[in-house]
Amino acid sequence: MPKLIVVTREGEEREVEGAAGLSVMEVIRENGIDEVLALCGGCCSCATCHVHVDPEFAAKLPPMSEDENDLLDSSAGRDANSRLSCQIPFTDALDGLRVTIAEED
Ligand code: FES
Repeated sequence: MPKLIVVTREGEEREVEGAAGLSVMEVIRENGIDEVLALCGGCCSCATCHVHVDPEFAAKLPPMSEDENDLLDSSAGRDANSRLSCQIPFTDALDGLRVTIAEED
């Protein structure tokens, strides 16, 4: 299974495994990291799954939809590496992806 490296808000780095086919948000939550609230359950309507993605992987990520872009605009901590983790399908190509959980809005 591909590995995902998650950096929590406290700066703790955790390496977890996730089944391809889940979203990055689901992989984070299934591994017991509940800082990602994912209040809307992955419907791209809450922005509580905001993460900062390692720029090295930017080219491997799916393009951002208009909805995702609009939602991220409502998040104070947005930067050039911001994504909603529910909008990133986890795949073997993303093995080793490093994401940092964004500050809570
Ligand atoms: S879980 Fe709500 S936007 Fe991602």
